[in-house]
Amino acid sequence: MILSLDQGTTSSRAILFNLEAGMVAQGQYEIKQSFPRPGWVEHDPEQIWESQLTAARDAIQASGIAAADITAIGITNQRETALIWDRTTGEPIYPAIVWQDRRTAQQCEEIKRQGLDREIADKTGLVVDAYFSATKLAWILDHVQGARERAERGELLAGTIDSWLIWKLTGGAVHATDVTNASRTMLFNLHERRWDDQLIQELRIPRSILPEIRMSGGDFGTADAGWFGAEIPIRSVLGDQQAALFGHTCLEAGSAKNTYGTGCFILMNTGTEAVVSSHGLLTTVAWGMGDELYYALEGSVFVAGAAVQWLHEGLGLIEGPADSEQRAAEVEDSEGVVVVPAFTGLGAPYWDMYARGAVFGLTRGTTAGHLVRATLEALAFQSRDVIGAMEKDAGMPLTGLRVDGGAVRNNLLMQFQADILGSTVTRTTYAETTALGAALLAGLTSGVWSREQLESFNKAERDFVPRMDGEERERRYNVWQDAVERSMGWEKH
Ligand code: G3P
Repeated sequence: MILSLDQGTTSSRAILFNLEAGMVAQGQYEIKQSFPRPGWVEHDPEQIWESQLTAARDAIQASGIAAADITAIGITNQRETALIWDRTTGEPIYPAIVWQDRRTAQQCEEIKRQGLDREIADKTGLVVDAYFSATKLAWILDHVQGARERAERGELLAGTIDSWLIWKLTGGAVHATDVTNASRTMLFNLHERRWDDQLIQELRIPRSILPEIRMSGGDFGTADAGWFGAEIPIRSVLGDQQAALFGHTCLEAGSAKNTYGTGCFILMNTGTEAVVSSHGLLTTVAWGMGDELYYALEGSVFVAGAAVQWLHEGLGLIEGPADSEQRAAEVEDSEGVVVVPAFTGLGAPYWDMYARGAVFGLTRGTTAGHLVRATLEALAFQSRDVIGAMEKDAGMPLTGLRVDGGAVRNNLLMQFQADILGSTVTRTTYAETTALGAALLAGLTSGVWSREQLESFNKAERDFVPRMDGEERERRYNVWQDAVERSMGWEKH
């Protein structure tokens, strides 16, 4: 069996997969979210570790197998979240600063004022933003008394959540990260495949605290026998969105996945070329295997499932997310109503923080059904915005979109997604694509599975084939783009 550890933003999960990649047992614990000040988000690193360890032990116990029968561990994690701990005692010197945390926005503005954004984009594929780990680490070093001196003396270690788990599991023997997690720090040079000496200096991160960078499919040491009753090799590590891409077996350039959560995370495999975006997308490492790095373009939609929640909690139009399909099906189409859920501004490819939500095309005949339907359609339109930008950047058409996340159970939405993209949308059998991805890579690395075998595991549960006529598709999409344009800049009023 393969043990997959999935340390996410809201929970720590562990899933045991058998040799047919079937889910055998699992464990799961919630993660406490702390919001000490507006815009700040923290996690307790000890709780992250304890919950992950207990979830893994639960899964092993529930499966009834012995730890000695587990071939390998795969780790996948919430990305960008960063922490620093004492190399000797293992104690974190400050809570983990979560990816959503905005406390370093000012520092990022300063970095841009210094004109470093161009260099950072060229080297790391990222835009300068508080989202990424580097400024979070610098903040901890600057705000915890004596931290910089201790770091200079070599007493501290830093890392993203993967590094923390690897270090704990190996009893402090391995301080490493993988290329995908490294690519989210703003310190990793995508082209030279290493920490960038100049960026480390400019962003004031001492070299000695950074983990060693390894391939995602590789040797990350061995979990101590003390944790599970037998030693287990750690054979894959990758960020959770990349793991979902792998779990969907989007292994060829041009293949893409969309995870519909609160927002949408869309990643497209671009093969062994790091494609630099001219449409505000991120260039990121998809995974490293053997000697090769595979890259992806990434774009996110800020508000997706959150818009469906708004229909429920804000407007009371539906009884819950599951009810949205039925409500939307009460009407034949949205009858010209367009909802732009730009509640927190717009991301790629528009990048307008002043855009705000808007509803267009209301008539006396508009019903709740029309509003619900138009809101669901907005999820699909926004995904097309990002995917369209990806196709332009990559210079290759989408070869199909594989989907996961809560909203994919909504058939009406999935059909509309296929219609508005003009390509097939594939819902797969696994709901847990992220955990599966880490397990598949660990299995591949340990020689349990071949690459061909992987493709046979996560089968299509249903293909949604475009039914909309091409002219109608473009007409509807043009109307959407017009609506987006009208909602931009609204907050400036
Ligand atoms: O970039 C942040 C992302 O990795 C978080 O994913 O699923 O833990 O919310 P999730």
